[in-house]
Amino acid sequence: MDDDTPEEIFAELKTRPIGGWGVAQIGAGTGLAVYAMWVGILQPGFRKVPLRLQVPYIPASKVQVQNVMTLLRGRKGGLVDLGSGDGRIVLEAHQHGFSPAVGYELNPWLVQLARFHAWRAGHHEKVSYRREDLWKVDLTKCKNVTVFLAPSVLSLLQEKLQAELPDDALVVTGRFPLPDWKPCRVEGQGVERAWAYSMQAQRQNVFGSKLP
Ligand SMILES: C[S@@+](CC[C@H](N)C(=O)[O-])C[C@H]1O[C@@H](n2cnc3c(N)ncnc32)[C@H](O)[C@@H]1O
Repeated sequence: MDDDTPEEIFAELKTRPIGGWGVAQIGAGTGLAVYAMWVGILQPGFRKVPLRLQVPYIPASKVQVQNVMTLLRGRKGGLVDLGSGDGRIVLEAHQHGFSPAVGYELNPWLVQLARFHAWRAGHHEKVSYRREDLWKVDLTKCKNVTVFLAPSVLSLLQEKLQAELPDDALVVTGRFPLPDWKPCRVEGQGVERAWAYSMQAQRQNVFGSKLP
């Protein structure tokens, strides 16, 4: 064995069966590496959020952002983006006249990236990105809300929006619609699609349909 060349050792390893223990070690090692990457890089700050509410970062495309802005046309005042990622929707909303424009994001890397983008665009004093759990944000004074989250959390989000938003609020969702609400407008096609929901119409639908 001492005289074996690296090629011979490698050839021997290739032909030797790995065995159950080896498979378990590889499995555990891979699992640990994936978990470390998920917790450390992809989802830091999410440790206290239940797994079923963890939504990964996927940025909205340019078309998607434009569709969201089209649905917000004619609206004024403040805007919040729940799960703001790298801040693109908030920045665009500010450029369309929304003020204050605020993004809530749990991932600290993304909060820093969003601030960097705002600084590079010369608007860092006009927009804000807060490292907060969107489920704990008080929405009672929000008039314009944008959301691009996973379908698995949208039922729960409906309840929060229904309980907290004022009647004159407008909610715009990207990529996925709210499962039980009726949109007042839809913009775009396929994965670029966005839906707008009037809070007042939504409440009338819910309460109106319960009348005898
Ligand atoms: C699909 S991405 C959308 C990002 C951005 N709004 C956009 O359209 O480009 C969803 C974002 O929500 C963030 N997020 C998920 N759960 C959150 C929570 N509980 N509180 C704050 N941010 C959250 C994720 O980190 C991720 O950046």
